[in-house]
Amino acid sequence: MRTLIKNALKSETAQDPITLKGWIRTRRDNKDFSFLELNDGTSLANIQCIADAGIPGYDDITKMSTGSAIGITGKLVESPGKGQQWEIHAASIELIGEAPTDYPLQKKGHTPEFLRSISHLRPRANLYGAVFRMRSRMAQAVHRFFVERDFTYVHTPIITASDCEGAGEMFRVTTHNPFTTSTSSAACGGASATASPDNDFFNKATYLTVSGQLEGEAFATALSNIYTFGPTFRAENSNTSRHANEFWMIEPEMAFCDLEGDMDLAEEFVKYLITDVLENNEGDLEIFNKFIDKGLRARLEFVAEKPFQRVTYTEAVEILTKSGKTFDYPVTWGVNLQSEHERFLTEEHFKCPTTVYNYPKEVKPFYMRINDDGKTVAAMDLLVPGIGEIVGGAQREERLDILQANMAQHKLNEEDYQWYTDLRKYGTCPHAGFGLGFERMLMFATGMKNIRDVIPFARTPGSCEF
Ligand code: 4AD
Ligand code: MG
Repeated sequence: MRTLIKNALKSETAQDPITLKGWIRTRRDNKDFSFLELNDGTSLANIQCIADAGIPGYDDITKMSTGSAIGITGKLVESPGKGQQWEIHAASIELIGEAPTDYPLQKKGHTPEFLRSISHLRPRANLYGAVFRMRSRMAQAVHRFFVERDFTYVHTPIITASDCEGAGEMFRVTTHNPFTTSTSSAACGGASATASPDNDFFNKATYLTVSGQLEGEAFATALSNIYTFGPTFRAENSNTSRHANEFWMIEPEMAFCDLEGDMDLAEEFVKYLITDVLENNEGDLEIFNKFIDKGLRARLEFVAEKPFQRVTYTEAVEILTKSGKTFDYPVTWGVNLQSEHERFLTEEHFKCPTTVYNYPKEVKPFYMRINDDGKTVAAMDLLVPGIGEIVGGAQREERLDILQANMAQHKLNEEDYQWYTDLRKYGTCPHAGFGLGFERMLMFATGMKNIRDVIPFARTPGSCEF
């Protein structure tokens, strides 16, 4: 039976025998024995192993170089060394998979850019092992948060015919041959026909979803409180450190809920995830705090404890115009806030996470509820230091006639959204929800500066490797 290194390191007693398997981080040979640092990815910490010359398998010791997979059976004993409680005295050692000397992770201190080019080996680097363990735990904390609050988990579709955000940033899903204008059946020797959505696979134009919200609303107006958590796709050509073309989003939707309840939940959710990171990081937070951002732990503690700020868009514009700062994009009432504005508000002005709400209707999608002023919608964005927008949400327009007018203004074909307007026709109710970008949340929790470094295999403009 194999013991995971994480569990061996937590052992309360010595153990004999114990079997460990993992990858060698370093090896040092002396005349009569070798020291091996072994890591199996279950924790940041390696376990030190001492293998005496002559034990079964020792003949292969020179092949057991950095990156090799090995198995060790021996005794778990108290370590006299500093900083570790346990070490292994090997009784036998087995080379499972050799790593030749061109193994790219020989030394420490590779750049993030280089490590992205070897994303298939990158999880074996300490920092990235920590990132992806944290990603896993945070995903589970997401589910715990909603289950504790009686939300139902809904799987919304990935292939869709609607553009939820109305930004036209959708990847087409088609079986037509993209390199000719004819249908795929023609390309395979069938009857030639001009390719059009009507003769495509679904008999209409289809896309990868940019958001599960619209389908989420159908379930919220049946099951009350629901959430989705899945991949979303945006064909936006934004080559920034905060945008990916495939990312994961968590979208709760609540029936009988208004904008205030929505903002409350978003803030509670962000605090919950941060608290969970602080309490259950199992040592991984340490590496971020040490090598990525020395102020990280203090900032996370601050965020977990302090209330967030809330301002209307109108107040935010006032703060920005009176700030005396020159922005690349000048601010006037009616423009969308840019990342530089968002970061000024949260990093320099309020110095804490900030929710901005009631945006001009022109800069927001069709589904948001029009406020009584006729100019703004019940939208909200939660902004955090270092990143900017991490959550976007709204109270939804539940009044059928006003929704129809909004759709007309946004030039949407009402026929395409008939199922969505039905939700207003039959038993409509106030409801609200938001989307939290999972990778942006991870960037915030780890201090990692680039979205490409918190997703296993990043998809960004011009890059779809692995
Ligand atoms: O603000 P967005 O576009 O909102 C929606 O999609 C709504 N339908 C959500 C809802 O109300 N149910 O996106 C929500 C969040 C953003 O705040 C951001 O954190 C993240 O998704 N996000 C991205 N993350 C990484 N890369 C991108 N290209 C992103 N676009 C949005
Ligand atoms: Mg947004």
